[in-house]
Amino acid sequence: SSEENLTVNFINRDGETLTATAKEGESLLDVVIRNHLNIDGFGACEGTLACSTCHLIFDQKVFDQLSSITDEEMDMLDLAFGLTNTSRLGCQVCMKKAIDKMTVRVPTDVSDVRKDQVEKQSK
Ligand code: FES
Repeated sequence: SSEENLTVNFINRDGETLTATAKEGESLLDVVIRNHLNIDGFGACEGTLACSTCHLIFDQKVFDQLSSITDEEMDMLDLAFGLTNTSRLGCQVCMKKAIDKMTVRVPTDVSDVRKDQVEKQSK
């Protein structure tokens, strides 16, 4: 069903927890966008596996439940800052009941060059 009956908690870059509703089968990037979560620089390439700004860090238990990682995702993930053993790209992870109410962490740093330039200009 397309009901928004799942929940995801995102620990944002500043440590604040953002709670979002999610639908089964929806990617975490779509969850962030649809809930208008204010996560700085997240999802710059709109899910086309070209940026790594959607890097998220999962609990091991949740990570083990996720669909297997593709070579394409792995290549892009390798470019992410602060990579961990339980890192994934949010645009490639889909919500499902088994990971309902999970908490994911948004890494403090992102490695999107475009964003770094915008940040410097606005400071
Ligand atoms: Fe760019 Fe996920 S949004 S790789």
